[in-house]
Amino acid sequence: MDLFEAMKERRSCRAFLSDPVDEDTILKILEAGTWAPSPLNAQPWEFMVVTGGAVKKAIFNEAEERRKWGQEVSGWKWLGGYRVDFLKSAPVIIAVIGDPKKTGLDSFLEEGGVGYQHACAAAIQNIHLAAHALGLGTLWFTLFDRQVIREILEIPGEKTPLALICLGKPAKPSPAPPRKKVKDKVRFIR
Ligand SMILES: Cc1cc2nc3c(=O)[nH]c(=O)nc-3n(C[C@H](O)[C@H](O)[C@H](O)COP(=O)(O)O)c2cc1C
Repeated sequence: MDLFEAMKERRSCRAFLSDPVDEDTILKILEAGTWAPSPLNAQPWEFMVVTGGAVKKAIFNEAEERRKWGQEVSGWKWLGGYRVDFLKSAPVIIAVIGDPKKTGLDSFLEEGGVGYQHACAAAIQNIHLAAHALGLGTLWFTLFDRQVIREILEIPGEKTPLALICLGKPAKPSPAPPRKKVKDKVRFIR
């Protein structure tokens, strides 16, 4: 698969078939994640692979709570119709956990280091592209309280669950949300 095509054609998938994804495939996709760049090559990511119904249900319940909270605090009407059922239907949920200690010189800044989060984001994008290249759908999901997810997944307090990636066979194609013209986003300084 051509890389440029893959980057354009990858879509956020919010409807999955129940077909399982085998562990070798999951490992292949996660290995692609580990080839992402990171500050000082600190590789600040860890992955937890959830396939069990009970934990998925607990994650779903948390996302539902957050969705309701989000609607209240934002007043955004669309959140009333936004469903997180994909957290139950996706055969796999991958938690991407970052280690704030594994960051670069930015750790000495007053606001603290964020390089580890950037590196995890790069790994997440690699995971999305690798899954897409293998014909699988993914969703980068962040509508959760980090402390609640820590408790559900028994993640130690010093590490941070940054994203949940739903993974599985797409139940249907997803339309491409439009992009702004690149020229409107670029300024050349010559
Ligand atoms: C940091 C980040 C957080 C996101 N969180 C969510 C989320 O919580 N729920 C969701 O449905 N999509 C989430 N998305 C997916 C975006 O909605 C999606 O990427 C965007 O609408 C563009 O669509 P596309 O991925 O199909 O190109 C997130 C994406 C990013 C990069």
